[in-house]
Amino acid sequence: MIKADLVIKNARQVLTCRGEAPKLREQMMEIGLITQGWVASGRGKITYVGDEKGYRAKVTPEEGCQVIDASEAVVLPGLVDSHTHLVFGGSREGEFVQRLWGMSYQEIAQSGGGILSTVRATRAASYEELLRDARRRLDRMLRLGTTTCEAKSGYGLTVDDELKLLRISRELHQSHPADIVNTFLGAHTFPPEYISRKEEYVDLIISEFIPRVKEEGLAEFCDVFCEEGAFSVEQSRAILESAAQLGFKLKLHADQLTHSGGAELAAELGAISADHLDYISDRGVELLAEKGVAAVLLPGSNFFLRLKRYPPARRMIEAGVPVTLATDFNPGTAMNESMPLTIALACLEMGLFPEEAINAATINSAYAVELHKSVGSIEVGKKADFIICSIPNYLHLIYHWGINHVHTVVKDGKIVVREGKIVNQSSFP
Ligand code: NIG
Ligand code: FE
Repeated sequence: MIKADLVIKNARQVLTCRGEAPKLREQMMEIGLITQGWVASGRGKITYVGDEKGYRAKVTPEEGCQVIDASEAVVLPGLVDSHTHLVFGGSREGEFVQRLWGMSYQEIAQSGGGILSTVRATRAASYEELLRDARRRLDRMLRLGTTTCEAKSGYGLTVDDELKLLRISRELHQSHPADIVNTFLGAHTFPPEYISRKEEYVDLIISEFIPRVKEEGLAEFCDVFCEEGAFSVEQSRAILESAAQLGFKLKLHADQLTHSGGAELAAELGAISADHLDYISDRGVELLAEKGVAAVLLPGSNFFLRLKRYPPARRMIEAGVPVTLATDFNPGTAMNESMPLTIALACLEMGLFPEEAINAATINSAYAVELHKSVGSIEVGKKADFIICSIPNYLHLIYHWGINHVHTVVKDGKIVVREGKIVNQSSFP
């Protein structure tokens, strides 16, 4: 008999997103739908998923087992946000108005705004302030259904400041219900003190930053912003190769604003993901498919920058690229923590079908942080991370857009959000 300490009974729909990961091509339409579904977990792991008959035959609820009636709701795997810049100081609401006046993202950066203005605010902020703000953001993510997220450094750009940002996200990983995967992004842009000594900064990242991050075990991934005006393909290659030698897994901000050759580089280096990809070449698409590199698409940043252009998601799916979705949450290009809104934008602006977008935000997004064996789908043995949405069917997640439909969040088999509110823990007074 299977034991259970938490049971979700009689859900209108359970979207399991089960199957081999990553989902490619037409597999992205398969969401493993169960109507009138039952899910059980024990000690934080999923022990049963199926219909009522199977549940009654196989599962014994333990004493004190929590039972959630989901007869008015839809159950999905906890959402996985595989690309965020979670920890930073300050905010940049003025830049969004400057863009309404006609300035571009690059022009704002060249005039002293952009990433460097957040670097100044981040360096000036204390550990406690940064931690408090990041925790509030993570609370918001959890209430919107994100149970696992990636968090990049990249607004410190000195050894101490970068380590500080990674320590903050590591502390949150340990103290907050959500899981966080850390990425070192010291190569986000050149800090002002190295603006005329760019090669020296690249050398410093290789000789000091990366070994320190490794020594303290503060990140699993290393990322570089490979772009005109940021790091060239050669500089990105040198940084990422040195990180790979020390055992880091690789990511790349690639082809975001111009065709920089980042996708080709990601494939060459066997990166786990290439992110953004608005200007990816046809060859880049082929190479990502060939090497199984996840394409992390971030439609929230395109939307917020009012770009008319989006990455060629359909072409990527047809070519067999593992397509995934994330928020890109950051103070410049995507001040929004919502994966459900990202799913809606993927459908409305990039033409993904709801099933494709949901797989891209769950199991495929888990693949982009190499956690697809433990999260991203509702399958026996995986972490009991679920969201329960008050909607009549899953299409309402997109159709009734811009609304937080998440009613309950279960993380590691525990209810952490109930009626939209965080249980027993909130950074809000
Ligand atoms: O992913 N492209 C680089 N980094 C961020 C933007 C950072 C910022 O503007 O602060 C991005 O869009
Ligand atoms: Fe980003």
